[in-house]
Amino acid sequence: MEKCYHIHTYGCQMNVHESEKLAGVLNKLGYTETPDEKQASVIVFNTCCIRESAEQHVYGNIGALKQHKKQNPELIIAVCGCMSQQKATADNIKAKYPFVNIVFGTHNIHMFEEYLKEAEKEKHVFALWEKEQEIVENTSVYRTSDNNAWVNITYGCNNFCTYCIVPFVRGRERSRKAADIINEVKGLIGKYKTITLLGQNVNSYGKDFGDGTDFAGLLEDLAKLEGDFRIKFLTSHPKDLSQKVINVIAKNNKMSKTIHLPVQSGSNKILKLMNRSYTREHYISLIDSIKKAMPDAVITTDIIVGFPGETDSDFEETMDLLRYCNFAGIFAFMYSKRRGTPAEIMDGQVSIETKRKRVNAALDLQRKISAEVMQSFLGKTLEVLTEMFNGKVVGRTEFGKLVDLDKEAEQGSFYEVEITKILSKKFAGKILNKRVL
Ligand code: 5AD
Ligand code: SF4
Repeated sequence: MEKCYHIHTYGCQMNVHESEKLAGVLNKLGYTETPDEKQASVIVFNTCCIRESAEQHVYGNIGALKQHKKQNPELIIAVCGCMSQQKATADNIKAKYPFVNIVFGTHNIHMFEEYLKEAEKEKHVFALWEKEQEIVENTSVYRTSDNNAWVNITYGCNNFCTYCIVPFVRGRERSRKAADIINEVKGLIGKYKTITLLGQNVNSYGKDFGDGTDFAGLLEDLAKLEGDFRIKFLTSHPKDLSQKVINVIAKNNKMSKTIHLPVQSGSNKILKLMNRSYTREHYISLIDSIKKAMPDAVITTDIIVGFPGETDSDFEETMDLLRYCNFAGIFAFMYSKRRGTPAEIMDGQVSIETKRKRVNAALDLQRKISAEVMQSFLGKTLEVLTEMFNGKVVGRTEFGKLVDLDKEAEQGSFYEVEITKILSKKFAGKILNKRVL
């Protein structure tokens, strides 16, 4: 019988890409992917611990497999990723879910093949490494998205924002060598139209080399490569976003003009407590510079409401910042206490009711702002990448909106389109020409 696998991925794009690496290993060992976990002989949970809700979700789904595993004792269940990198959580999984065969963390994800082979011999593997490792190159990747290819540029984070668990589970910041990144991207051109560079804080790329390497330089080198593709990146930290990077994005037509720049709060008091290392004024000056260099840039952000010490007036400053910045969209999160982070024990923890009230108020306000921003695209020219959707070729903007096209177009190509109609879920547009690079 064919051996199948199913991977559950939680959390951010970093995890999505890491699951592609896990899938690469499974394919190499002769397994094939199945969308139905009940058919699988290996089930992997690639977990996230950024907020408590993400963890609860994982526990619920592992627990739900108890009966299935009883009836299929040869089934291999593996739990890895950010949640199991925390020793207390990994111990908890081992104690509460003894039917899990493999538990490992983020630092030893490259060991998956070995662990799987041991589990195939009916062994249980519980492998936590305390420290991050040197970057491992040449892993097999099974890419799962049609148009977009993820490419790591940095791993880990040095910022220690006081609410955030990431520096504890992903270790210190390490940059990949530019030559390795460029080689990987060269191999993707022609197969993928969008290349998304990944790092916890892409703007500090290369600082660890101490030789003047920087993110702006990397972007310039990548934008020089021949081919029909666009470059995106995730995620930026406002403290390290330089004018040089803004200029490189503005002047290269391979660079996506959709920028995600998490602000987290509009209050200087809260930003300081969060250890974000920038002020509200600095953030606003960055938004102004981006808009000055690229009037049509589309900017999105993340905010956290209910951080310890946040008063109504601090929250009002966040609302005010949303009004000023005119983001195209936001992700708004209620602060979630994370074990071992400085904010866990800060005074002034905010009640869940207040957090709910604030997150709803922020989302209500943003819905109106987003609708206005979308309306402002009427009559403008946007670049879209075409794809098949419900049996026909449609466009997709850099920021993910579907655009119905007025005439037939080639699939998987870039077109310049004049936006003729704004509907709530999508746009309609008139094709002007194919994009030539
Ligand atoms: N609680 C709520 N949101 C958080 N984020 C990170 N840590 C927490 C936390 N403890 C949010 C931040 C970050 C996004 C990926 O998740 O807004 O930008
Ligand atoms: Fe967490 Fe801050 Fe690092 Fe982002 S920059 S991963 S929010 S510590």
